[in-house]
Amino acid sequence: MNRDILSKIEQEQMISREELEELLTTTDQELIEELYRRARATAGKYYGKEIYLRGLIEFTNYCKNNCYYCGIRCGNEKAQRYRLTMDQILSCCESGWELGFRTFVLQGGEDPYYTDERICTIIKEIKKRYPDCAVTLSIGEKERASYQAYFDAGADRYLLRHETADEVHYQKLHPSQMSLAHRKQCLRELKEIGYQTGCGFMVGSPGQTVECLVEDFEFLQELKPHMIGIGPFLAHQDTPFGAEENGSYDQTLLLLSILRLMFPGVLLPATTALGTIAPDGREQGLLAGANVLMPNLSPVSVRKKYELYDNKICTGEESAQCKDCLSRRVESVGYRIVTDRGDSRIEK
Ligand code: 5AD
Ligand code: FES
Repeated sequence: MNRDILSKIEQEQMISREELEELLTTTDQELIEELYRRARATAGKYYGKEIYLRGLIEFTNYCKNNCYYCGIRCGNEKAQRYRLTMDQILSCCESGWELGFRTFVLQGGEDPYYTDERICTIIKEIKKRYPDCAVTLSIGEKERASYQAYFDAGADRYLLRHETADEVHYQKLHPSQMSLAHRKQCLRELKEIGYQTGCGFMVGSPGQTVECLVEDFEFLQELKPHMIGIGPFLAHQDTPFGAEENGSYDQTLLLLSILRLMFPGVLLPATTALGTIAPDGREQGLLAGANVLMPNLSPVSVRKKYELYDNKICTGEESAQCKDCLSRRVESVGYRIVTDRGDSRIEK
């Protein structure tokens, strides 16, 4: 195999099954380095050396779903459940704002306690206090009317990973009440409504094949999301996948680079899961073309409870400590954190 494949990904914005298989299994270090170099150069064209921060507020770990991979699935009786009050959420925003965060991500399980009305009240209050900030929601599958109501209340962005774009694989990861078709429908509706929309998938989740990844790419081509969140699958001991093997760190980095070449202007986070699987995973993610970091703003008292997978990092640190730590990490690889809403630079 030669460098042509990299140019081809850039030009055609697609990759064949065979090419992907080769890239994911190559031992040609030179080729891998070249891939990272090009991905960095592409990220640089759109975003320079600037890294965007999103302050993640994990406001509830109640969830009505029972996904086989996830530590806060409703079937996990060992999970200690919590909900943050409005005051707690606002106090996360306040410390975040002082630390320079201009995006707040409200993430939670699918928790029926948070009716549309409650969600809208939270959004409006945050937007009233911090009009220069973006509010991102990550609260799962809802009715179109609910998505519209949140948008009208001021929400700017929505993250909903599709998890896998392969029908059979989707059924392996989720109970039969959930469907890929509905997931995709939600994502299309979110885009239609006008959200900056993020989807994404886990790398190396049980049963994932190269074909699944090609289908992920095809779905991404069709949806054209503003953001693509990927991270390695990591087993959680109290789930049906507790004994499964973790996803591959190297493959996650390769996939980040490939995504950067295929979707040059997309927002690409170096995720907490990547930082969990390797001590310098997030830094290496930036060097593979990622441009977003999503540190935790949740109160330290609940952090350990939002455990999607084992050994999640940053559960003992205060937000300010994480921010300092992250700044150092980002600077160690030649980038800098910016105080900015960090909107996507893709032409609409
Ligand atoms: N390993 C890695 N990522 C996970 N997520 C959920 N459970 C795990 C796990 N065990 C991811 C899913 C979800 C996001 C919030 O976290 O992709 O969409
Ligand atoms: Fe949280 Fe380093 S980023 S402690």
